Amino acid sequence: MIPTQRQTQNSLSRLIPRLQVRFADHAQAYPQEWNTFLRRLEEHFPRLFGIYYQLYANQYDFFYHLEDLLVTLAQMWLSRPDDLQALDASREKNPDWFLSNQMLGGVCYVDLFAGDLAGIQGKIPYFKELGLTYLHLMPLFRVPQGENDGGYAVSSYREVNPALGSMQQLLELASDLRQNGISLVLDLVFNHTSNEHEWALQAIAGDEDNQDYYRIFPDRTMPDAYEKHLREIFPDEHPGAFTYFPEINKWVWTTFHSYQWDLNYSNPQVFNRMAEEMLTLANVGVEVLRLDAVAFIWKQLGTNCENLPEAHLLIQAFNATARIAAPALLFKSEAIVHPDEVVKYIHPEECQLSYNPLLMALLWEALATRKVSLLNQALRERFKINSECAWVNYVRCHDDIGWTFSDEDAAHLDINGYYHRKFLNDFYTGRFEGSFARGLTFQENPKTGDARISGTCASLAGLEKAVREETAAEVELAIRRILLIHGICLTIGGIPLIYLGDEIGTLNDYSYRDDPAKAEDSRWVHRPFADWEKYARRNDPASIEGRIYQGLRRLAGMRLQHAAFNGQEVQIIDTGNPHVLGFVRISASQRVLIFTNFSEQEQTLPAYLLRLYGLSYQYENLLGGKTVPAVDINLSPLDFLVIASS
Ligand code: GLC
Ligand code: GLC
Repeated sequence: MIPTQRQTQNSLSRLIPRLQVRFADHAQAYPQEWNTFLRRLEEHFPRLFGIYYQLYANQYDFFYHLEDLLVTLAQMWLSRPDDLQALDASREKNPDWFLSNQMLGGVCYVDLFAGDLAGIQGKIPYFKELGLTYLHLMPLFRVPQGENDGGYAVSSYREVNPALGSMQQLLELASDLRQNGISLVLDLVFNHTSNEHEWALQAIAGDEDNQDYYRIFPDRTMPDAYEKHLREIFPDEHPGAFTYFPEINKWVWTTFHSYQWDLNYSNPQVFNRMAEEMLTLANVGVEVLRLDAVAFIWKQLGTNCENLPEAHLLIQAFNATARIAAPALLFKSEAIVHPDEVVKYIHPEECQLSYNPLLMALLWEALATRKVSLLNQALRERFKINSECAWVNYVRCHDDIGWTFSDEDAAHLDINGYYHRKFLNDFYTGRFEGSFARGLTFQENPKTGDARISGTCASLAGLEKAVREETAAEVELAIRRILLIHGICLTIGGIPLIYLGDEIGTLNDYSYRDDPAKAEDSRWVHRPFADWEKYARRNDPASIEGRIYQGLRRLAGMRLQHAAFNGQEVQIIDTGNPHVLGFVRISASQRVLIFTNFSEQEQTLPAYLLRLYGLSYQYENLLGGKTVPAVDINLSPLDFLVIASS
């Protein structure tokens, strides 16, 4: 049910006078601020109302919740610090700022990278050296002691984990980062709270209103009915999606761990309160929120409860509230699902940014197979998104690698998805003979044969095996693999995101097995403490760290200098060679051609490719600084070649 224009207008004209009475003092003292609010409300209310109505019109107290939401938005806007209100205005004028080739992202855990927030503050010079403009700090809020899924079980969105610092420090850090040209990115873990969040504690104490914040069932009837269609996300931890809590003698929906309770967004109060938490983070100075586990936020009996239409409506509603009360705020979706579903979250009115899990998985797929057919097809058919949005391209993050390519796409290339995933899991755990990789399985599910992969970029790319068991030649190949896949992320279009530690070739750290709070979760193998002695070698060209770091810096420096790397228009080159991926980036004055050789053998490409895609006779090798004529192109093993028409 979608409300008519007249119903929408009536609702707004009934609500505005009530807001005016309520905020009369403020409107008088700060008329300009208040008028800005009203202008934005009028602009975005129709969208917000339309969605809210679709989600909640069946509630007996619909209008109460709607008014409560608008009051929250007004309060949050009025308490938004001046510098952030100024940022809002400037971002409204320049909405595509994040499509620039100047953007470079980094992501880390506060404690593992620098101890605490003060430590992160002290690393700002390093972030600048690396050229970051976007810094994602992994969850840093209050969490249960012991197991807390690396911070993804939040007990309070308003309290920094005391071991890491305080809210005041976070606010100062956000502002310092901004002054240094770096946008702070945090997670909004909004699918679930921890079982120690005050809502959950009240629910456990028997409070029915708080029990309505979650999805809680008196017996197994509904859980059994739902589970007929659900995928198991963390089967190692508990089967199915529900956990029994004897304190209340009830079953709680827990998609992930038992201590992560899924919120019940069919209750409008949950939406309103989470909107308030979200805007509180925006007012601290967070510029991008990574929306965690977006696929799971709505449930519907008889479906797999992932990627439902209402999940999209909810995010769009959050987006509309941000446009009204904190317009500078952007969303990045974390949808690690089928590629058909990933793109549905990407829209200026939903998530402006999205992880690109397909590119990530296929970069590793191509390294293992030495063939670019799946990658090529994905870039041709699945890379294009709304031009006001951007992919966030990455090779590793704190999570496992899931082989989320489409089976239908694979079938077109005569690849069997099931066996190919099995091969990739064998390859990246090193079980496959001759594999260069050293990874671990994550959440291997004997019932379905499904598994995902943990491991650092360097260990998966062969560096661990090469350093420990092989020769300098294999070390060189591993370094080339690392630079090749990062090179693609830096040039293909969108925001490149570096998982900090990868830029110096950090290897797997198996010591997590000694910590009972981590031992069961292999993802900790790629979440080590930053080794600052290793970092100290980053400018030594003779060290492995230096070779990787300097290589990445060269790639990032090149990205900065060429306007062709703006935005994400890309043309894929038909190289005619199964091992070589080629693509073109185009600016007004230049065509930049990128050729990458995924094999350990030399490859030669015919000269006509240059003429056909480069439209010129003279070229410059942007990494080698040499002029090259339009003759056959020789690619060395695992080469990453960038040539521009001149
Ligand atoms: C996200 C996080 C992951 C976490 C899960 C549950 O996918 O990236 O680390 O386990 O959500 O919050
Ligand atoms: C996310 C992803 C899933 C991943 C999990 C834990 O929600 O959707 O693929 O394995 O978190 O890392």
